[in-house]
Amino acid sequence: QLGLKTETLGHTIHFFEEVDSTQRIAAKLAYEGAPEGTLVVAEEQKAGRGRLDRKWFSPKGTGIWMSLILRPPIPPQRVPQLTMLVAVAISQAIQEVTGLVPDIKWPNDILLHGKKGVGILTELQADPDRVRSVIVGIGINVNQTAEQFPEDIRAIATSLAIEKGERIKRAPLIQEILLRIERLYKQYLAHGFRPIKLLWEGYAVSIGKPVTARTLGGTIRGIARGITEDGLLILEDEEQNTHYIHSADIQL
Ligand code: ATP
Ligand code: BTN
Repeated sequence: QLGLKTETLGHTIHFFEEVDSTQRIAAKLAYEGAPEGTLVVAEEQKAGRGRLDRKWFSPKGTGIWMSLILRPPIPPQRVPQLTMLVAVAISQAIQEVTGLVPDIKWPNDILLHGKKGVGILTELQADPDRVRSVIVGIGINVNQTAEQFPEDIRAIATSLAIEKGERIKRAPLIQEILLRIERLYKQYLAHGFRPIKLLWEGYAVSIGKPVTARTLGGTIRGIARGITEDGLLILEDEEQNTHYIHSADIQL
C-alpha cells in the first residue's frame, strides 16, 4: 500500500498497528534470517527506543516509525557510515517532499530549524570481521502539533508539519526515503564512503563550529573539524589536541 518504486528495499513489509518497538521486531526477523530490504513499520510504538538508552516518543498515526534490515558485506566498524548514509537519504527525501532544508547534527540527528525532527538508531548483529545484519531504525515526527509533544521535549523537538505549516502525507515520504537509501546504498557498495561523506558534510551543521561532546568518558569542548572515513567526529580542543569521538551527545 506504500507504492514503492525500489528494487529490493521494502519488498517485504511487516505492518503493525501497535508494537513495543519496530527495532525489536526487526532484530528478531533478522536473526531468523529475513532478507535484506525487509521493513517493519508501525502506526504506534509503546516502547520506542532512542540512542543511549533513551525513550523515543512514538504516538499513534503522527509519525514514521520504521526499521529496515540491511545485510551489507562490510566489517562492523564501518556501520556508522551506513547510519550517515541513511541520514543523508532522509535529508534528501525531506527536502524533495517538503521543500524544507534539514541540517544533520553528528552523528545522525536531523534538525529542522534547529529542533530535532528525526532520529536514527542503528543496531547490528555481527561476527568480529563481518556484519550479519544491520537494523536501521528511523523515527520521523511528521504530523505532530507542538502541544502533542511531551512538555519536557517541546523546546527541542519538532515535526515536519510544524515547520512546514501543513500536514504531510507519510506514504510518499516513506517511498522517497527508501528510494534514496537504495540509490546511495548501491553507490556506497560500489564506490565506498567518500561520495556519501561529501553529501553528509553538505548537510552538517556542526563542522567548523565549537561544540561540547558529552561522552561516557567525560566532556570535551572543541571545534568540530569534520568526520573520519569511519564516521568518527574529529574534535580539536583548546590545546590543539585532536579527539576522535565514537559516541556522544553533541551540544552546539
Ligand atoms: P537520560 O536521563 O537517560 O539522559 P532523558 O531524560 O534525556 O534520558 P528519555 O526519556 O530517556 O530522556 O528520552 C527522551 C529524550 O529523547 C529527549 O531528551 C528527547 O531528546 C528525545 N526524544 C524522544 N522522543 C522524541 C521525538 N519523538 N522527537 C524528538 N526527540 C525525541
Ligand atoms: C535517536 O535517539 O535519535 C534515535 C531514535 C530512533 C527511533 C526509531 S522509531 C523506529 C525505530 N524503533 C525504535 O524503537 N526506535 C527506532
